[in-house]
Amino acid sequence: MKFFLDTADIAEIRALAALGLVDGVTTNPSLIAKTGRKMAEVISEICEAVEGPVSAEVTATEHAAMLAEARALRKLAHNVVVKLPLTADGLRACRDLSEEGILVNVTLCFSPAQALLAAKAGAAYVSPFVGRLDDVGHDGMGLIADILAIYDNYDFATEVLVASVRHPMHVVQAAKLGADVATMPPAVLRALINHPLTDKGLAGFLADWAKTGQSIL
Ligand code: E4P
Repeated sequence: MKFFLDTADIAEIRALAALGLVDGVTTNPSLIAKTGRKMAEVISEICEAVEGPVSAEVTATEHAAMLAEARALRKLAHNVVVKLPLTADGLRACRDLSEEGILVNVTLCFSPAQALLAAKAGAAYVSPFVGRLDDVGHDGMGLIADILAIYDNYDFATEVLVASVRHPMHVVQAAKLGADVATMPPAVLRALINHPLTDKGLAGFLADWAKTGQSIL
């Protein structure tokens, strides 16, 4: 399973990439806005900090304008993946860009039917938003299971990128279902690492070791 960071915070990306656990990054217009910086600069820096795919989202809503923005974003770095919303214009742009060999992440997916359309449009990734579905009383992980079953039926190559991840159990549940990727805020990746019994166990080992007066080196 691939781990992407869902943030545009370059300091966080650099710190977590150093752990060797980050396979890519996803951004969206809200995350870019939070930085208070120019999108082109931020995306270029992220693309240098990580080797894997970096999703950069268009803000145009009409097909021709989406294509123009997508091509501009693609010029920023070789690892830019163009993110398009799951609308009729977005699906049409996805088809066009995919036929040119440009990788597309179709975002804001909330139903199995929408995911089926993204795959048919040639998307490299589809981003179902599990947290936002859970927030309104729907079953976010149920959507992931449905999409995986549908893609499996037809051998679609589109990768299921679990998005809007809110807590470690979302990542674990997505992994149990066999999702290709989970994109998570930095806090969720840190929470995956930590366990109170690990801290307690380590403190005990070190206390016992100190009593021996030994050192390994
Ligand atoms: C996906 O790529 C989106 O950037 C993201 O996961 C949205 O998450 P949110 O619902 O926490 O805003």
